[in-house]
Amino acid sequence: MSESRPSGPTLSERADELERRLSDELDRVLPIRSPLYVSGDVDPRESAMTPPLAPGQRVNMGADPRLPRMPDKPALLDFFELRMGPATHLLQSATHALRAGCDEKIVLACLLHDISVAMFVRGDHGYWGAALLEPYVAEEVSWAIRAHQVLRFFPDPDYGYAYPDLYVQMFGADFRVEPYVERAYEKIRKHKWYEIARLITVNDIYSFDPTMPVSLDPFRDVVARNFRQPEEGLGWDDSPASHMWRTINWPTRFI
Ligand SMILES: [Fe+2]
Ligand SMILES: [Fe+2]
Repeated sequence: MSESRPSGPTLSERADELERRLSDELDRVLPIRSPLYVSGDVDPRESAMTPPLAPGQRVNMGADPRLPRMPDKPALLDFFELRMGPATHLLQSATHALRAGCDEKIVLACLLHDISVAMFVRGDHGYWGAALLEPYVAEEVSWAIRAHQVLRFFPDPDYGYAYPDLYVQMFGADFRVEPYVERAYEKIRKHKWYEIARLITVNDIYSFDPTMPVSLDPFRDVVARNFRQPEEGLGWDDSPASHMWRTINWPTRFI
Protein backbone atom coordinates (compact mmCIF):
# COMPACT_ATOMS: atom_id res chain seq x y z
CA MET A 1 0.00 0.00 0.00
CA SER A 2 1.43 3.37 -0.91
CA GLU A 3 1.72 6.09 1.72
CA SER A 4 -0.68 8.91 1.03
CA ARG A 5 0.20 12.52 1.84
CA PRO A 6 -2.68 14.54 3.30
CA SER A 7 -4.12 16.78 0.61
CA GLY A 8 -3.69 20.58 0.86
CA PRO A 9 -0.81 22.65 2.20
CA THR A 10 0.87 21.79 5.51
CA LEU A 11 0.79 24.16 8.45
CA SER A 12 4.28 25.37 7.71
CA GLU A 13 3.42 25.92 4.01
CA ARG A 14 0.39 27.93 5.08
CA ALA A 15 2.54 30.02 7.47
CA ASP A 16 5.04 30.69 4.66
CA GLU A 17 2.24 31.71 2.34
CA LEU A 18 0.80 34.08 4.96
CA GLU A 19 4.21 35.65 5.51
CA ARG A 20 4.69 36.09 1.77
CA ARG A 21 1.28 37.75 1.40
CA LEU A 22 1.97 40.03 4.34
CA SER A 23 5.31 41.02 2.93
CA ASP A 24 3.72 41.72 -0.49
CA GLU A 25 1.04 43.80 1.21
CA LEU A 26 3.65 45.81 3.10
CA ASP A 27 5.57 46.39 -0.13
CA ARG A 28 2.36 47.77 -1.57
CA VAL A 29 0.97 49.70 1.41
CA LEU A 30 3.30 51.30 3.96
CA PRO A 31 2.12 51.47 7.62
CA ILE A 32 3.00 54.85 9.13
CA ARG A 33 4.18 55.50 12.68
CA SER A 34 2.89 58.76 14.16
CA PRO A 35 5.60 61.13 15.46
CA LEU A 36 4.29 60.56 18.99
CA TYR A 37 4.84 56.79 18.80
CA VAL A 38 8.54 57.19 18.19
CA SER A 39 9.27 60.56 19.80
CA GLY A 40 12.25 60.12 22.09
CA ASP A 41 13.65 57.17 20.17
CA VAL A 42 13.68 59.59 17.27
CA ASP A 43 14.09 63.35 17.57
CA PRO A 44 10.63 64.60 16.47
CA ARG A 45 12.32 67.38 14.52
CA GLU A 46 13.60 64.66 12.21
CA SER A 47 10.15 63.12 11.54
CA ALA A 48 9.15 63.41 7.90
CA MET A 49 5.61 64.61 7.14
CA THR A 50 5.56 62.30 4.12
CA PRO A 51 7.74 59.20 3.98
CA PRO A 52 9.63 58.22 0.84
CA LEU A 53 7.64 55.64 -1.13
CA ALA A 54 8.90 52.96 -3.49
CA PRO A 55 7.45 53.04 -7.02
CA GLY A 56 3.89 51.77 -6.88
CA GLN A 57 3.78 51.86 -3.09
CA ARG A 58 1.03 53.68 -1.16
CA VAL A 59 0.64 54.73 2.46
CA ASN A 60 -1.71 52.87 4.75
CA MET A 61 -5.13 54.49 5.14
CA GLY A 62 -6.88 51.74 7.08
CA ALA A 63 -6.26 48.58 9.03
CA ASP A 64 -2.66 47.49 9.58
CA PRO A 65 -2.30 44.06 7.95
CA ARG A 66 0.15 42.96 10.65
CA LEU A 67 -2.48 43.28 13.40
CA PRO A 68 -5.40 40.96 14.10
CA ARG A 69 -8.41 42.32 12.29
CA MET A 70 -11.09 43.81 14.53
CA PRO A 71 -14.76 42.99 13.96
CA ASP A 72 -16.64 45.51 11.82
CA LYS A 73 -18.53 46.68 14.91
CA PRO A 74 -15.95 46.32 17.67
CA ALA A 75 -17.07 46.06 21.27
CA LEU A 76 -15.07 46.96 24.37
CA LEU A 77 -14.01 43.39 25.01
CA ASP A 78 -12.79 43.01 21.40
CA PHE A 79 -10.28 45.74 22.22
CA PHE A 80 -9.27 43.80 25.35
CA GLU A 81 -8.73 40.68 23.30
CA LEU A 82 -7.21 42.14 20.12
CA ARG A 83 -5.48 45.40 21.05
CA MET A 84 -3.80 44.82 24.40
CA GLY A 85 -1.37 42.45 26.07
CA PRO A 86 -2.53 40.14 28.85
CA ALA A 87 -4.94 42.26 30.89
CA THR A 88 -3.74 40.60 34.09
CA HIS A 89 -3.37 43.81 36.08
CA LEU A 90 -6.85 45.04 35.16
CA LEU A 91 -8.49 41.67 35.75
CA GLN A 92 -6.79 41.17 39.10
CA SER A 93 -7.75 44.65 40.28
CA ALA A 94 -11.37 44.07 39.24
CA THR A 95 -11.35 40.63 40.90
CA HIS A 96 -10.07 42.23 44.08
CA ALA A 97 -12.93 44.74 43.98
CA LEU A 98 -15.45 41.99 43.27
CA ARG A 99 -14.23 39.90 46.22
CA ALA A 100 -14.30 42.96 48.48
CA GLY A 101 -18.01 43.29 47.66
CA CYS A 102 -17.66 46.62 45.88
CA ASP A 103 -20.51 48.12 43.92
CA GLU A 104 -20.61 47.07 40.27
CA LYS A 105 -19.66 50.54 39.05
CA ILE A 106 -16.49 50.35 41.14
CA VAL A 107 -15.72 46.88 39.76
CA LEU A 108 -16.07 48.34 36.25
CA ALA A 109 -13.87 51.31 37.17
CA CYS A 110 -11.20 48.89 38.44
CA LEU A 111 -11.47 46.79 35.28
CA LEU A 112 -10.93 49.88 33.11
CA HIS A 113 -8.74 52.10 35.28
CA ASP A 114 -5.49 51.52 33.34
CA ILE A 115 -7.04 50.89 29.92
CA SER A 116 -4.98 53.71 28.47
CA VAL A 117 -1.72 52.24 29.80
CA ALA A 118 -2.70 48.89 28.34
CA MET A 119 -3.59 50.00 24.81
CA PHE A 120 -3.23 53.72 24.19
CA VAL A 121 -1.03 56.30 25.93
CA ARG A 122 0.84 55.78 29.22
CA GLY A 123 1.68 59.31 30.38
CA ASP A 124 -1.33 60.96 32.06
CA HIS A 125 -3.15 57.67 31.57
CA GLY A 126 -6.02 58.57 33.91
CA TYR A 127 -6.91 61.58 31.77
CA TRP A 128 -6.62 59.65 28.51
CA GLY A 129 -8.58 56.70 29.92
CA ALA A 130 -11.38 58.96 31.12
CA ALA A 131 -11.55 60.68 27.73
CA LEU A 132 -11.83 57.29 26.00
CA LEU A 133 -14.59 56.09 28.29
CA GLU A 134 -16.65 59.20 29.07
CA PRO A 135 -19.39 58.68 26.45
CA TYR A 136 -19.97 55.08 27.51
CA VAL A 137 -19.90 54.85 31.31
CA ALA A 138 -21.57 56.56 34.27
CA GLU A 139 -20.08 59.99 34.93
CA GLU A 140 -18.61 58.93 38.29
CA VAL A 141 -16.77 56.00 36.67
CA SER A 142 -14.85 58.13 34.17
CA TRP A 143 -14.35 60.84 36.81
CA ALA A 144 -12.82 58.28 39.18
CA ILE A 145 -10.60 56.81 36.47
CA ARG A 146 -9.21 60.28 35.76
CA ALA A 147 -8.74 60.93 39.49
CA HIS A 148 -7.05 57.63 40.39
CA GLN A 149 -3.94 58.70 38.52
CA VAL A 150 -3.53 61.56 40.99
CA LEU A 151 -4.74 59.77 44.13
CA ARG A 152 -2.30 56.87 43.79
CA PHE A 153 0.49 59.25 44.88
CA PHE A 154 -1.27 60.28 48.10
CA PRO A 155 -1.74 57.93 51.07
CA ASP A 156 -5.03 57.69 52.92
CA PRO A 157 -4.81 55.70 56.16
CA ASP A 158 -8.62 55.77 56.50
CA TYR A 159 -8.72 53.39 53.53
CA GLY A 160 -5.49 51.55 54.39
CA TYR A 161 -3.82 53.03 51.33
CA ALA A 162 -0.09 53.76 51.59
CA TYR A 163 2.25 55.16 48.94
CA PRO A 164 3.20 52.05 46.94
CA ASP A 165 6.64 50.56 47.62
CA LEU A 166 6.73 49.75 43.92
CA TYR A 167 6.75 53.49 43.13
CA VAL A 168 9.81 54.02 45.32
CA GLN A 169 11.47 51.21 43.41
CA MET A 170 10.35 52.41 39.97
CA PHE A 171 10.47 56.21 40.32
CA GLY A 172 13.16 56.56 43.02
CA ALA A 173 12.78 57.73 46.62
CA ASP A 174 13.31 61.36 45.58
CA PHE A 175 10.45 61.43 43.06
CA ARG A 176 7.95 64.26 43.65
CA VAL A 177 4.73 64.82 41.74
CA GLU A 178 4.32 67.89 39.55
CA PRO A 179 2.37 70.94 40.80
CA TYR A 180 -0.63 70.14 38.57
CA VAL A 181 -0.98 66.80 40.38
CA GLU A 182 -0.93 68.57 43.77
CA ARG A 183 -3.58 71.01 42.56
CA ALA A 184 -5.77 68.21 41.21
CA TYR A 185 -5.41 66.30 44.50
CA GLU A 186 -6.75 69.26 46.52
CA LYS A 187 -9.90 69.26 44.40
CA ILE A 188 -10.33 65.48 44.28
CA ARG A 189 -9.92 65.18 48.06
CA LYS A 190 -13.02 67.32 48.59
CA HIS A 191 -15.11 65.84 45.78
CA LYS A 192 -18.30 63.90 46.44
CA TRP A 193 -16.97 60.97 44.39
CA TYR A 194 -13.61 60.84 46.21
CA GLU A 195 -14.35 57.38 47.60
CA ILE A 196 -14.86 55.82 44.16
CA ALA A 197 -11.47 57.01 42.97
CA ARG A 198 -9.88 56.01 46.28
CA LEU A 199 -11.32 52.51 45.96
CA ILE A 200 -9.65 52.18 42.56
CA THR A 201 -6.29 52.83 44.23
CA VAL A 202 -7.14 50.44 47.09
CA ASN A 203 -7.98 47.63 44.65
CA ASP A 204 -5.08 48.45 42.34
CA ILE A 205 -2.85 45.40 42.56
CA TYR A 206 0.83 45.87 41.93
CA SER A 207 2.11 42.34 42.07
CA PHE A 208 1.12 39.30 40.06
CA ASP A 209 -0.72 36.72 42.15
CA PRO A 210 -0.62 33.35 40.33
CA THR A 211 -3.59 32.04 42.32
CA MET A 212 -5.91 34.76 41.08
CA PRO A 213 -8.06 34.13 38.01
CA VAL A 214 -7.26 36.25 34.97
CA SER A 215 -10.29 35.60 32.82
CA LEU A 216 -12.60 38.21 31.40
CA ASP A 217 -15.56 35.88 31.90
CA PRO A 218 -16.57 37.02 35.41
CA PHE A 219 -16.81 40.59 34.08
CA ARG A 220 -18.78 40.12 30.86
CA ASP A 221 -22.10 40.78 32.62
CA VAL A 222 -20.72 43.75 34.54
CA VAL A 223 -19.58 45.26 31.24
CA ALA A 224 -22.90 44.46 29.55
CA ARG A 225 -24.82 46.21 32.33
CA ASN A 226 -22.55 49.22 32.82
CA PHE A 227 -20.84 49.99 29.52
CA ARG A 228 -23.04 51.56 26.82
CA GLN A 229 -21.73 49.62 23.87
CA PRO A 230 -22.61 51.61 20.71
CA GLU A 231 -24.55 49.66 18.12
CA GLU A 232 -22.23 50.87 15.31
CA GLY A 233 -19.13 49.65 17.15
CA LEU A 234 -16.55 51.67 19.09
CA GLY A 235 -14.91 54.07 16.69
CA TRP A 236 -17.79 54.21 14.24
CA ASP A 237 -20.40 55.78 16.51
CA ASP A 238 -19.58 59.50 16.16
CA SER A 239 -19.12 60.01 19.91
CA PRO A 240 -16.61 62.61 21.16
CA ALA A 241 -14.21 59.68 21.79
CA SER A 242 -14.70 57.78 18.52
CA HIS A 243 -11.51 59.08 16.96
CA MET A 244 -9.41 57.59 19.77
CA TRP A 245 -10.96 54.13 19.39
CA ARG A 246 -10.37 54.33 15.63
CA THR A 247 -6.74 55.22 16.24
CA ILE A 248 -6.32 52.19 18.52
CA ASN A 249 -8.03 49.99 15.92
CA TRP A 250 -5.99 51.45 13.02
CA PRO A 251 -2.81 52.79 14.67
CA THR A 252 -0.69 53.22 11.54
CA ARG A 253 -3.01 55.21 9.30
CA PHE A 254 -1.30 58.03 7.40
CA ILE A 255 -3.87 60.73 8.27
FE1 LIG B 1 -3.26 53.70 37.03
FE1 LIG C 1 -3.35 50.13 38.12
